[in-house]
Amino acid sequence: DRVVLAYSGGLDTSVAIGWIGAETGAEVVALAVDVGQGGEDLEVIRQRALTCGAVESVVVDAREEFARSFVAPAIRANALYMDRYPLISSLSRPVIVRHLVEAAHTFGAGAIAHGCTGKGNDQVRFEVGVMALAPELKVLAPVRDSGMTRDKAIAFADERGLPIDVTARSPYSIDQNLWGRTAECGVLEDPWAQPPEDVFVYTADPTLARDPDEVTIGFVDGLPVSLDGRALPLPELVAELNTRAGAQGVGRIDLIEDRLVGIKSREIYECPAAITLLTAHRDLEDLTLERDLARFKRGVDQRWAELVYDGLWYSPLRAALDAFVDDASVRVSGDVRIRLAGGVAQVVGRRSEASLYDHALATYDAGDQFDQRDARGFIDLWGLPSKVWAAREQRLAR
Ligand code: ARG
Ligand code: SIN
Repeated sequence: DRVVLAYSGGLDTSVAIGWIGAETGAEVVALAVDVGQGGEDLEVIRQRALTCGAVESVVVDAREEFARSFVAPAIRANALYMDRYPLISSLSRPVIVRHLVEAAHTFGAGAIAHGCTGKGNDQVRFEVGVMALAPELKVLAPVRDSGMTRDKAIAFADERGLPIDVTARSPYSIDQNLWGRTAECGVLEDPWAQPPEDVFVYTADPTLARDPDEVTIGFVDGLPVSLDGRALPLPELVAELNTRAGAQGVGRIDLIEDRLVGIKSREIYECPAAITLLTAHRDLEDLTLERDLARFKRGVDQRWAELVYDGLWYSPLRAALDAFVDDASVRVSGDVRIRLAGGVAQVVGRRSEASLYDHALATYDAGDQFDQRDARGFIDLWGLPSKVWAAREQRLAR
């Protein structure tokens, strides 16, 4: 039988190739998915899987797909778990799952495998995703289920002379993609300890003074389409903003996070482009969404983020919420001007053909068209239930 393994090129998944072979006798197909993680050359990673004993090794470039089908809906939904975390890993798992399932069909595999522990969210996202797309496939999780601890993995790699540089390993557990970078473990496990500067890779130290930057982001139907007037495809736009906002230290997040499995964990995120784009998008919604639609959408946005965090990307509720979010996004077009400095992305201006801001209604100066006499009758009726209720309370209190 064959197994398709979600392969990162790191110690755990490299050892997992031989480990799964030894445990189950299955042939392992390694699949690395490019979601804009940067870092090591993916051809090197592909070769490493073969050296570690994979029968096939494939790299899929999913950057465009990740941006279009996963990051884009997250922008429209202002997606922030616990109001702060832009779902970096939570968004990449479902696209990886899609390719695992496709590879399982291509290579005639009956199972997929991942290198997650039993303590995190990622195991849930991988497995529930597979259950939703290909319920017939089995799942192997050697780190969680067959005792492949870090020490045993290192011993296994040494024993077999696997080409993995164990000493060069980061002291943190890292996941990264186009939408940001996550760090856990090591000294970060003390929630009182300030993260050392070596945790950060996407962002400069925000306290180091440098000339502030300013960027104008153009949106069409709730999605960013240009930077400073230059039209850019989403992956390029995000990559460029990561550089510019990252240079100003924008997008560092230090969060005590509620994992789906019930653990509170301390997480450090860096997501300069995500924070800049979400800040701009939310501001443009304030300008272009009718009040009740905007209020209702806040609840939908929160539910969307929780569903995706909780591993339910492939669910009928997420699809239905996206239909609502897409419909609500139709007039969210225009430009947002954002100042990037000192770790903060601050909106300093916005404009839109579809603006609902009416200067003649808002102004306190000449040209005011808002008839203030109407306010009095409005308040009388708006307050009527309060008045009737208060009168009853006074009567019964006697
Ligand atoms: N806590 C974040 C999440 O659940 C980040 C997970 C990072 N995953 C990892 N394997 N290092 O989305
Ligand atoms: C893991 O435990 O494998 C990574 C952390 C997570 O999934 O949240």
